[in-house]
Amino acid sequence: METNQLPLEDTSFMDIPPRQRKEKIISALKDKFDFQNAHLKTVNNKGDGILSKCFNYDAPNQVKELGIYPFFKVIEGMNGAHVTIDGRDLVTVSTNNYLGLTHDPRVIAASQKALDDFGSGCTGSRFLNGTLSLHKTLERELADFIGQEDCIVMSTGYQANQGTIACLLGRQDIAFSDRENHASIYEGCAVAQGKTVRYHHNDMDHLEHLLKKHSDVDGKLIITDSVFSMSGDIANLPGIVKLARDYKASVLVDEAHGLGVMGDRGQGLTHYYNLEKEIDLYVGTFSKSLGSIGGFVGGHSRITEYIRHKASAFIFTAALPPASVAGVTAALDILIQEPERLKKLQDNTAYIKKGFFDMGFQINNNQVPIVPIKIGDETLTLYFNKLLFENGIFAGVAVSPVVPPYHAMIRSSYTSCHTEKELDHILSTFKKLGTDLGIITQ
Ligand SMILES: Cc1ncc(COP(=O)(O)O)c(C=O)c1O
Repeated sequence: METNQLPLEDTSFMDIPPRQRKEKIISALKDKFDFQNAHLKTVNNKGDGILSKCFNYDAPNQVKELGIYPFFKVIEGMNGAHVTIDGRDLVTVSTNNYLGLTHDPRVIAASQKALDDFGSGCTGSRFLNGTLSLHKTLERELADFIGQEDCIVMSTGYQANQGTIACLLGRQDIAFSDRENHASIYEGCAVAQGKTVRYHHNDMDHLEHLLKKHSDVDGKLIITDSVFSMSGDIANLPGIVKLARDYKASVLVDEAHGLGVMGDRGQGLTHYYNLEKEIDLYVGTFSKSLGSIGGFVGGHSRITEYIRHKASAFIFTAALPPASVAGVTAALDILIQEPERLKKLQDNTAYIKKGFFDMGFQINNNQVPIVPIKIGDETLTLYFNKLLFENGIFAGVAVSPVVPPYHAMIRSSYTSCHTEKELDHILSTFKKLGTDLGIITQ
């Protein structure tokens, strides 16, 4: 093969029997780019200073030269399940706009009105000069919807996790955190004064083992995503709540991907299991089903009042701007008033999952619209993604360290606004490319 030629550009690969083709392709790709060892190849070697790591960091360039770099693609336009990139219209499966609310005219009108009424930003923290009547309205509506006494609207979901955990986890306390939890939970645990132990993903035996081991500790907090953002797994919330009761621990659930998706009205996994009164902290984000930016934490008003006065990530940052707050409030109203959106999302999810399953891809059999297509090898995953892009599909990839080494995946996700025709196009493209690359053999 020529220097930067990619495997399927060499037609002789198609003569290899499908069952052996994948390994041959991986090996051909590895000759061009060795993902696991890319960091060892230094380029500028600018001394030992703190910045030498930047000058020597060359992995992105190597991937770009090969033409399979998937990140920071510039989106020139977007609407519903479509994006425009490089002047081309693509169907996106790289989105968390689960209910298609980002372009709803009512959401846009509400944002525009807030912009007119309150201006472009709060120019200060909620604590001092950034609490608008808009924030208070959204907090009341959200608390009602998720079944918690009170809520605090923060500037991102990341900060909601980070700020809440960091201020609650005192020196003597321990957090028990699922290994697959979101980075913002890791970050909150890392900056907190207390200790964190990680239990194997969704493994109640391991969680119990750790709770038992630390049973002498008074302050215990179990932390879990409700829906895990990469695998699309659902947390074993009944198991967690039971262990929390048995071992006198509190529970924080991050409903970033559960809100608008799980439960009969989209209130999240806590409601799906009727456990909203059994958990202590409900964290969420506006950057997914509610189509904007921002985050929140809900719980007993004594707890939220403490967080409101203690969380650095809330106090020392500017408040969520008026247009976003009003847009989220309008989106929440639509979510409540139009349950057919959730129904359509569930139908689309069932349709696409059956399609992938029938093709031979291993996927989760649940109602979560995140469908990870597990490939394993990182470079093969980047290559698959490039081919999808060329075939009109904009997908996301998850490679190490976001997922463990050799567990790379195409992370695809679906919305209520994908049409059946688009879903069929996605399925047939995955089938063709998956077969060409020897990832599925039928
Ligand atoms: C599980 C989970 N928690 C928290 C966040 C952070 O949310 P935000 O985008 O509002 O910062 C995300 C977003 O990727 C997420 O997937």
